[in-house]
Amino acid sequence: MKEYCKSSDGSITYTTDGNFIYAEKDGISIRLDLFDRHYYKLRLYNNVPILEIDGIRMQLVKDFKTPLDYSKAVVKGLQIPKNANASLLDTCMGLGYTAIEASRQKGVKLVTTCEISDAVFTLAKWNPLSETLWNKNIVPMKGDVVEIIKNFDSSMFSFIIHDPPRFSHAPQLYSLEFYKELKRICKKQARIFNYVGSVGKKKGRNIEKEVEKKLSVAGFKNIKYVKKLQGIFATLP
Ligand SMILES: C[S@@+](CC[C@H](N)C(=O)[O-])C[C@H]1O[C@@H](n2cnc3c(N)ncnc32)[C@H](O)[C@@H]1O
Repeated sequence: MKEYCKSSDGSITYTTDGNFIYAEKDGISIRLDLFDRHYYKLRLYNNVPILEIDGIRMQLVKDFKTPLDYSKAVVKGLQIPKNANASLLDTCMGLGYTAIEASRQKGVKLVTTCEISDAVFTLAKWNPLSETLWNKNIVPMKGDVVEIIKNFDSSMFSFIIHDPPRFSHAPQLYSLEFYKELKRICKKQARIFNYVGSVGKKKGRNIEKEVEKKLSVAGFKNIKYVKKLQGIFATLP
């Protein structure tokens, strides 16, 4: 067992056996994995915790040293002006790495982020690298983003990061109805990033072309797929 780090207030010591991460507080040690219909687990990847659901990584690391580098590249690609005073929606919180990176931008006033899974919320609360999710200019909302956004006013957000699980695990987050809702809550000139992954090609599907088409039908323009990010940027006119 090797010490990984301490929480910022020193009250929690994190250790790892190379497979699991453990949190020790007041003499009690808990392993940071749990079952809640699915199996959720934190594990270290190049010294940064990543989330696995049923063994599938929720952060993209291919071509990146850590998921933090991926989050940085996504947020940089949004080209948020320093004086934007922007509200940004991060549709799928996970460990909050994209939300936290977005909240660090000078041009971002508030980040709203949604997470459907209680288990993920619990693991994010314990994850040492998610600490700033709870005390910065971020509002984490528990629930299904499909339902949550129905209650958002139109033209609320200047930027959206849409980083859902792969298509086969959350098809509703890739539906035209959902993209139309995203368009409704976007201000004019809003910019969106949509992770699409690379699944489906083997079965003759081209998920990025399907999403590009839906974004276009929903009203987004300047649609551009960025291979390294496995995602699409688009803008509202
Ligand atoms: C790819 S991960 C997001 C990773 C995140 N961007 C980060 O930086 O850690 C997708 C997350 O979306 C959550 N999710 C799946 N369906 C959802 C839904 N309908 N509404 C909100 N969250 C959802 C999953 O539980 C998972 O934690």
